[in-house]
Amino acid sequence: MNDLVTAAALARTRAWAPYSGFAVGTALRAASGRVVAGCNVENAAYPLGQCAEANALGALVAAGERRVVEVLVMAEGPPPCTPCGGCRQRLVEFAEPSTPVHVAAPDGSLLLSTTLGELLPAAFRLPSRTVPAPADPVALVRDRAVGFGPEVGLVLGSGLGAVADRIAPIVDLDTRELPGFPVPAVEGHRGRLRLGELAGVPVACLVGRPHLYEGHPPATLAQPIRLLRALGCTRVILVSAVGSLRPELGPGTLALVTDHLDFHGTNPLVGPNDDRIGPRFPDLVDLYDPVLRRALADAARSSGTPLAEGVLAGRLGPCFETPAEIRMLRLLGADLVGMSMVPEAIAARHCGLRVLGIGVVTNLAAGLAPAPPSHAETLAQAAAAADRLATLLEAALPELARCPRAL
Ligand code: HPA
Repeated sequence: MNDLVTAAALARTRAWAPYSGFAVGTALRAASGRVVAGCNVENAAYPLGQCAEANALGALVAAGERRVVEVLVMAEGPPPCTPCGGCRQRLVEFAEPSTPVHVAAPDGSLLLSTTLGELLPAAFRLPSRTVPAPADPVALVRDRAVGFGPEVGLVLGSGLGAVADRIAPIVDLDTRELPGFPVPAVEGHRGRLRLGELAGVPVACLVGRPHLYEGHPPATLAQPIRLLRALGCTRVILVSAVGSLRPELGPGTLALVTDHLDFHGTNPLVGPNDDRIGPRFPDLVDLYDPVLRRALADAARSSGTPLAEGVLAGRLGPCFETPAEIRMLRLLGADLVGMSMVPEAIAARHCGLRVLGIGVVTNLAAGLAPAPPSHAETLAQAAAAADRLATLLEAALPELARCPRAL
């Protein structure tokens, strides 16, 4: 709560209260974690003066936020200066009755902690937030990220969430909030959408992804990718944990995906085609964009990050392969094997996104190492490679953002 106290105290020092002499500072925490503040402003039309809460709400909305998760009001007490009746109603439009409301004295000491619902007379207790959430995920995200236009999409798989921590967030939401969105159910896939800048490039990053082996209908796997496109991304970087079929590409190797072999036996484009999104029969030549691949390879060289490359065999899972299957995949030309990326790459091509695929080798494939592959090993090795991956992406993103947009 210290950040709320600091913000409210600063705002309070700027209050304009020549008539009442009563200075108030209010700090609000938005759902994204961002803190905004306001102070009271009186003027000659005193009854029309604005409370600190109302001004803080103005700052919140102007910052592109819509939801308040915590409130702190700072003023002289006792008695504690709780928000006035009008401001209680203003606040609850952007919050829940359960939202905490703290009242602090100017020295930061806490005078009262309650909830918005407790402060509101029963007649005004609204059942839930009254700002209707848009039913369309694109509208919902745009509503939260007013004025922010991501250019590059990023999809991070198992154990790689730490890469997203390098993004200064404008919006960070749980994908369960997105209507109709398939929710990842696997440990290590956090299911978050974070919008913000990475290396100065506006990105939209999905942390955690749904997999076909979880039982999602294939077409739903296209939704996260189409959301990135609808938000304005023209390029997408797909990153996933993979097994290696080449003993020299051991755990921790970062590998550019140059092409794929698809063994899923189904496809995210199965079903009626929406011609507004993409063609019925998309071609997959140069699916993993040569221009983006060159830019990533250049960034790897200049940042001193070793980068391998190879063909990815995409399999349904959830079983890891048998050693005989691995030998077969090797004969067929695969270097890497994984249970994601391929359906997303297809959906991305279909909706006109340029695709870059990066495999993070988490293990040697079945039969190539003394121990069989495991999900725990996948998570641990991916997490260990996350920092190196983030450094590579930071080195590459400015150049990737300069590459041609349209396919
Ligand atoms: N096989 C399939 N998918 C994987 C593997 C593997 O060995 N490692 C990480 N994802």
